[in-house]
Amino acid sequence: MEGYGPSTYGDAFADVYDDWYTELPPPTVTAEFVARRSTGLVVELGSGTGRLAGALGAAGLPVVGLDASTAMLRRSRHTHPHLPVVAADMAEQPFRRGVAGCVLVAFNTLFNLPTGAGQRAALHQAADLLAEGGAVVVEAFVPADLGDAGGGHVDVVRSTDEVVVLSVSRTDPGRQTVWGHHVELRDGEPVRLRPWHVRFTDPDGVDALATSAGLELEARYGDWTGAPFDDRSTSHVSVYRHARRHR
Ligand SMILES: C[S@@+](CC[C@H](N)C(=O)[O-])C[C@H]1O[C@@H](n2cnc3c(N)ncnc32)[C@H](O)[C@@H]1O
Repeated sequence: MEGYGPSTYGDAFADVYDDWYTELPPPTVTAEFVARRSTGLVVELGSGTGRLAGALGAAGLPVVGLDASTAMLRRSRHTHPHLPVVAADMAEQPFRRGVAGCVLVAFNTLFNLPTGAGQRAALHQAADLLAEGGAVVVEAFVPADLGDAGGGHVDVVRSTDEVVVLSVSRTDPGRQTVWGHHVELRDGEPVRLRPWHVRFTDPDGVDALATSAGLELEARYGDWTGAPFDDRSTSHVSVYRHARRHR
């Protein structure tokens, strides 16, 4: 995975992203959730093709997207021409302090940053972006209890008459990382590899990063509908507010 950087994932998946990720919860549900908690401008970190930011804009929320991948941003501009987007690394955010009513980091995007330090830096900057009463909203998967179950995994991601897509990955439980490739196989065509990497942590770990960034947990849900978060939840939607402004 030499040469893997902030734009690698987005550049590798931009052309297929909206076709492959069709079974996610409807973006309108996320827009309703955010609308109830934002006090103004929504900044989405890692806005990708505009799947969510576009829905927020369509729901009437002021929103700006940020993404490190120009290929993703090209898709976003094509599908959502009125959505303002910025090319930047979410660990080096270019916005003025105090401009945001909500900073949204959805669909495991925080885990795209390769280290805990990078994730903390991104949350720290997100906290700085918040206006009075604003919220940072993080959606992330809950890691399975891995024990020592590191090593390699192969999963079938898609299988149609025309294409087979396998996810071939290697988990390092100690480093809390998974490196992988989506391997695309089409009859008679060269194999296409799409690399990805996540540095994961459990909900307590996300809280610890947020706390060290000056945020505190206000509420945690199991999904965007506001369902309760419990032991069976496979992902969480967590709402953080600026700790100092609460006290
Ligand atoms: C899993 S996708 C989520 C996209 C979008 N939020 C959604 O829910 O459909 C992660 C996005 O984060 C972007 N990304 C990854 N690392 C980044 C970084 N360091 N800075 C900014 N964007 C990044 C990728 O290019 C990709 O568009």
